[in-house]
Amino acid sequence: MGDQPHPLPNTGQGSSELDGCPFTFHCSPPSSSGESCIEPDPQAESMMDSSMSLTESVYNFPRLFGRTYHAYREGSYAFPNDKPEIERLALQDAIFMKIMNNRLYFAPLNDQPPKRVLDIATGAGDWAIAMGDRFPNAKVMATDLSPIQPETVPENVEFYVEDSSEPWDYSESFDYIHTKTTGACWESFETQIAQQAFDTLTPGGWLESQEILPVPHCDDGTLKPDSALGLWFRDFLNAAAEARRPVTEACNLRSIYERVGFVDIHERVYKIPLNGWAKDAKLKEVGKMMELNMQMGLSAFSLGLFSRIYGQTPEQIEVSLVEVRRDVSDPSIHAYLPFYVVWGRKPFPGQI
Ligand SMILES: C[S@@+](CC[C@H](N)C(=O)[O-])C[C@H]1O[C@@H](n2cnc3c(N)ncnc32)[C@H](O)[C@@H]1O
Repeated sequence: MGDQPHPLPNTGQGSSELDGCPFTFHCSPPSSSGESCIEPDPQAESMMDSSMSLTESVYNFPRLFGRTYHAYREGSYAFPNDKPEIERLALQDAIFMKIMNNRLYFAPLNDQPPKRVLDIATGAGDWAIAMGDRFPNAKVMATDLSPIQPETVPENVEFYVEDSSEPWDYSESFDYIHTKTTGACWESFETQIAQQAFDTLTPGGWLESQEILPVPHCDDGTLKPDSALGLWFRDFLNAAAEARRPVTEACNLRSIYERVGFVDIHERVYKIPLNGWAKDAKLKEVGKMMELNMQMGLSAFSLGLFSRIYGQTPEQIEVSLVEVRRDVSDPSIHAYLPFYVVWGRKPFPGQI
């Protein structure tokens, strides 16, 4: 890896150009015995300083648009890491848990409980903590650019500040690796994540991805491509692609897993309504939660990307979001986003 992992105190259509995605997105004095003193290394203090500053620097969050962003590998990820974003992530997690019927994973871990689990881009760390509780005999390692995880965690869970797009250099292999909502984190999910996960897994170990596709789908024409919401999604997808942090890999996961060499690949796709328009009671509830998630996240999703890619001012962005917010909460617009869960196994030697 470019930098070794830095253990921290436990703090804690759209577009028709979307590849393969459907659009519908540290002397005593000399002793009498004559023993000599241990000579101090004059460099030691400066070494301590530099490691302290490294640890402190990852907490020195830059401020922009009234929000805070990750300090480690500053600028790599366009979305904030502050309290409102952590609250939004908690809501988003509740949405996905509900839609997945409270399942933390789909890979067959119950048959053979994992000993070493890795959660890439863990965010607030909720999933990693839940997995630590679920598998008390497993060691769960979780990584992120931001040290925004809670102080009190199960003993078997450890958080590290790390850029997972860099070469991985773990001393031991894992038997289960997980990603969830990592759109806009990587330039290439295939080479930076899937291939490195394959190389880092024990034979027979599983990779699982739970990823949303922020391409709005609509089956009855009530979402117009030229509506404020349709145009916002188009601009968002385009800005993420221009920033070389695509958000559309969810629908390509199965083929990525295949190309990298995983076997026994499974895929489930859920539909998440954008507000409470659906008749089905569960989808209505999930939709209402999603509406709130969108309203909480729209500024965060737009400010970093739209200012950088389109040169828009925060004021211009917020003004343009007024109409988008209206559409998000309009139950006559029957839009939904697909949520992909894909899991696959690293083959045993000689299996393929
Ligand atoms: C949308 S959040 C999802 C967090 C968590 N997986 C969840 O489901 O709540 C994406 C996370 O990816 C992290 N991230 C972005 N780029 C990263 C990178 N290159 N390496 C490690 N983490 C990264 C961000 O800091 C953020 O916490």
